[in-house]
Amino acid sequence: MKWIEAASYEEMSKLAADLFKAQLKEHKQSVFGMATGGTPEGFYQELVASYQAGEISFAEAISFNLDEYIGVAPENKVSYHYYMDAHLFNHIDMKRENIHVPTGNVADVEKAATDYDAAIEAAGGIDMQLLGIGVNGHIGFNEPGSSFEVGTNIVELTESTREANKIYFDKPEDVPTHAITMGIKTIMQSRKIVLLISGASKQEAYDRLRSGEVTEDFPASALHNHPNVTVIYTGVK
Ligand code: F6R
Repeated sequence: MKWIEAASYEEMSKLAADLFKAQLKEHKQSVFGMATGGTPEGFYQELVASYQAGEISFAEAISFNLDEYIGVAPENKVSYHYYMDAHLFNHIDMKRENIHVPTGNVADVEKAATDYDAAIEAAGGIDMQLLGIGVNGHIGFNEPGSSFEVGTNIVELTESTREANKIYFDKPEDVPTHAITMGIKTIMQSRKIVLLISGASKQEAYDRLRSGEVTEDFPASALHNHPNVTVIYTGVK
């Protein structure tokens, strides 16, 4: 695991975007894994700015997002699909058919989960996966206790995750209870992983990851078993 300390949120975002841009320049058909949340907003701004400056094109790239709330339609403003359109996809030239966000509002969500892993495999696997980390150490929506051996699946969100995400909803009780998420097994199959950690609320998660202990009680610790992880962090001591 490679650790890079960034002097600011802006620098973290830029360093992460540089890795994705280098991947794209090396291989224009790259398959990217994308994350949502507050942490990668600056990263997406960097990618959009580079695209608009004519430095990069996503015309042949493919993307797969980590997760989506169950019961939330893609056009709903609180969906992760909507977030991705607003922060990235509406502003770049990635083809719509190459954009994948798990579907949370279909009758057979279990099938949607299995199909998602099959689609990732059919695309040749993920070249570079972006991750954030939850205050409880979750990656994607793989909450503490999740098996490292499970692919994309349906999970129940913990209270701490629902609490952290309520800022995006009108009422706290509107935060969904379940999500569809790439499993830790799916995430670990990515060839390269870039994990962003930003801000004091992530201090405990950062410390625990840094300790090196590997346990299913702390999902991000699975990353210690991966050969190519870069952690870019800021705002933690
Ligand atoms: C989002 C995701 C989550 C977030 C994590 C941190 O797609 O999979 O694991 O990365 O909850 O969220 P923020 O960045 O909002 O602190």
